[in-house]
Amino acid sequence: MSDVILEIRDVETYYGKIHALRGISFSVEAGEIVTLLGANGAGKSTTLRTISGLNRAKAGSISFMGEEITTKSPHEIVSMGLIHVPEGRRIFKGMTIKENLELGSFTLKDESERRRRMEHVYELFPVLHERRQRDAALLSGGEQQMLAMGRALMTDTKLLLLDEPSMGLAPFMVQGIMKIIKRLNAEGVTILLVEQNAKAALKLADYGYVLETGEIVVKGKAGKLQQDESIVKAYLGE
Ligand SMILES: Nc1ncnc2c1ncn2[C@@H]1O[C@H](COP(=O)(O)OP(=O)(O)OP(=O)(O)O)[C@@H](O)[C@H]1O
Ligand SMILES: [Mg+2]
Repeated sequence: MSDVILEIRDVETYYGKIHALRGISFSVEAGEIVTLLGANGAGKSTTLRTISGLNRAKAGSISFMGEEITTKSPHEIVSMGLIHVPEGRRIFKGMTIKENLELGSFTLKDESERRRRMEHVYELFPVLHERRQRDAALLSGGEQQMLAMGRALMTDTKLLLLDEPSMGLAPFMVQGIMKIIKRLNAEGVTILLVEQNAKAALKLADYGYVLETGEIVVKGKAGKLQQDESIVKAYLGE
């Protein structure tokens, strides 16, 4: 039986007069890794921002774990376990790595639970443990990405929205981040992954959607999309 965790129906989002999402519909099943691909400006980040409540859908509906979230605040959505790691990471510079992680657990009341989660993040990313007392601004790009993902894991994450986690990373770092995504998924976190690196994303994902100027133009099992020459050429580059 399929168990849909996220359902997007006919969603339209605008920036003033710019019609960024033109009626998109798709769903994510619990336990899956789904990737959202497309060229610059296609609407990938807008899709994630609309799901997490940072942008408002002007039409359509979004439901998460069977509950409509279309008009909920970002804060309410986070507390339901739907966590968004935005483009460009948004770590807090001028704060230590440990403080950045603590900020991720603001919805957790239980101190021992917070400590348990922090240890889990340090186990996933040993480099964050080594540098926990250092200013987050001193981390490399890849390490900042780890911190952003680690912060998302400081709370009870059911669905993780990742916006281009591989951006700007060296190839070996990309592999490392993809491995971590796979591990999180194996631990029960459902993942919606936006990527420019279509090859890496399709390798990891169960299912893929391609966005073009605010519309979904292609969808299918990741393995199928990977093998379809015309799709790869037309939409996925290289
Ligand atoms: N804050 C904003 N104000 C006005 N227009 C915006 C804003 N953010 C995005 N847009 C426009 O909305 C469209 C979709 O942008 P979006 O950022 O969702 O694309 P994307 O697929 O994430 O692209 P990229 O791969 O470059 O990150 C683009 O035409 C973009 O110019
Ligand atoms: Mg984007």
